[in-house]
Amino acid sequence: MLALLLLLCLGFLPSEATCPPYCLCASDIISCSGRNLSTLPFDLPGFATRLDLSHNELTVLLPGWIPQPFDQLATLVLSRNSISRIEVNAFAVTPHLLHLDLSSNRLTLLNSSIFTGLKQLKELLLFGNQIVQIIPGAFSDLYSLQRLYLSGNRLTTFPQGIYWEPGGPRNLTFLDLSHNRLSEVPVQSLLSLTHQCGIYLQGNPLVCDCALLALLEYWIWKQYRPLVDFRGDYPCKDYSGPGPLCSEQGVWDMPVEAQAFQVEPGKWLTVPCPGLASLTEGRLEVFWITPSTVVNSTSSDPNDHLVVLPNGTLEIRGALIEDSGTYGCVAARGRHYNPYESVEVNLVVGNLSTANGLAHRSSTEHFNTAFTTLASCVISIILVLLYLYLTPCRCREGQGGGSRGCGGRAIVLCSDPREVESGQRRSNGKRVAFLEPQEENCDNGSPKTSSVNLGHVTTEGILKNGSRTVGQTLIDPAYMA
Ligand SMILES: *[C@@H]1O[C@H](CO)[C@@H](O)[C@H](O)[C@H]1NC(C)=O
Ligand SMILES: *[C@@H]1O[C@H](CO)[C@@H](O)[C@H](O)[C@H]1NC(C)=O
Ligand SMILES: *[C@@H]1O[C@H](CO)[C@@H](O)[C@H](O)[C@H]1NC(C)=O
Ligand SMILES: *[C@@H]1O[C@H](CO)[C@@H](O)[C@H](O)[C@H]1NC(C)=O
Ligand SMILES: *[C@@H]1O[C@H](CO)[C@@H](O)[C@H](O)[C@H]1NC(C)=O
Ligand SMILES: *[C@@H]1O[C@H](CO)[C@@H](O)[C@H](O)[C@H]1NC(C)=O
Repeated sequence: MLALLLLLCLGFLPSEATCPPYCLCASDIISCSGRNLSTLPFDLPGFATRLDLSHNELTVLLPGWIPQPFDQLATLVLSRNSISRIEVNAFAVTPHLLHLDLSSNRLTLLNSSIFTGLKQLKELLLFGNQIVQIIPGAFSDLYSLQRLYLSGNRLTTFPQGIYWEPGGPRNLTFLDLSHNRLSEVPVQSLLSLTHQCGIYLQGNPLVCDCALLALLEYWIWKQYRPLVDFRGDYPCKDYSGPGPLCSEQGVWDMPVEAQAFQVEPGKWLTVPCPGLASLTEGRLEVFWITPSTVVNSTSSDPNDHLVVLPNGTLEIRGALIEDSGTYGCVAARGRHYNPYESVEVNLVVGNLSTANGLAHRSSTEHFNTAFTTLASCVISIILVLLYLYLTPCRCREGQGGGSRGCGGRAIVLCSDPREVESGQRRSNGKRVAFLEPQEENCDNGSPKTSSVNLGHVTTEGILKNGSRTVGQTLIDPAYMA
């Protein structure tokens, strides 16, 4: 017992922070890549922020597969193993992970709650697996997830739950579903997600129907990144739909230009779809993106407040103030858009007179704002100049004359140059400001205080002597003693 205690006190017990011989450790980075590991070594330093286990033989991630907590681990690389199963709580001991790489493994299914605890995870790499199915709740707890790579898997349905399940990611801005087996996508939902920046779908065997054509045309018109970058890997490349079904919808010679509508609250309004004038028999696939929702022409509940008529026209039944905004009409028109063409219209709901009053008030506000901005800008410039040139430190106050305490170089404000040349120093406080006191004095007081004090002195000097500005005085070397 005593010996053990002694050992304890002397710190001879085996330390936990050792680097196994088959890993490479660089401070907080541990790399055990390409070592045929089938389990995680026991004695890894727990303070690691990056752990690389790629190119090994891991097959299952059970709850205890990491034998020790890694409180600071931010990056965990598990790519190119043979992982086929992940169990609930497998990542419970790495709660602060930001980046998790599970690419090129053998996952076939993402069971629910397998990422429990990874509340801070921002990036999840799952490409190059064989994922067929995503069970609802698979991404629960991943509130912070921003980028999700599911490329190169075997998904046949678009995993909509990622966006709408409670507890899922709230800020997902990048979803890569390229090179899967999707044959159709939920066009209406994707239209409402267009603002989510990036949903990559290239390399899927998508069936080019009128709805998909409409979506792709709209994304191209919006210059949506995934379409601009990978246009060639999408179907409907030539903008022509599947036969006459879509192409009979539109009349191409009608100009497509930006339009604006105004309606009083409570009134009805019909807004024709830009560039879609003619009507044909049969169903049209027309989607309207409104400020609050996306509606389409096949769902026509007569009780709805926004209805798409069979000919693609949007009918607003009793406009509300909140309906104001930009409306986009998404339809397969089978055309390339030039930059002057718009598929959007603007709608203003409001009392004409009230709207004018608002405009007037806002223009006055703009003027006021501009004036305030200008004034504060001028003041800021003066303060910055004062700060830059007059702050080395404060002259010691209360010293007779001040000149000795400040020593060094002085700038003569608005005085006769001959006095400067003669080396005379005036100490009457009116004409001379001493700007470079001895360095020893610089410890006293914060720069801000000295700037204010000196600024005051200088401003006073300028005011009393009148004719020159600070800028002139400072720039002109003739006035530097
Ligand atoms: C890993 O295993 C393979 C075959 O099982 C062997 O050829 C290779 O040398 C091993 N690598 C290491 C680093 O042990
Ligand atoms: C998914 O997880 C549940 C419990 O969470 C388990 O009963 C089920 O077997 C798992 N499914 C697979 C395929 O691993
Ligand atoms: C989502 O993004 C918003 C705005 O960028 C931010 O305020 C919020 O904290 C983010 N939420 C999460 C869970 O990261
Ligand atoms: C049209 O809207 C209805 C109701 O919102 C929806 O169920 C349906 O899937 C939509 N049609 C298409 C082609 O997206
Ligand atoms: C669409 O149909 C409505 C009524 O069914 C009609 O009032 C409107 O003029 C039509 N719009 C166009 C552009 O044909
Ligand atoms: C619109 O303004 C007029 C006069 O300014 C007012 O009489 C009328 O009630 C207003 N209508 C609505 C819906 O606010």
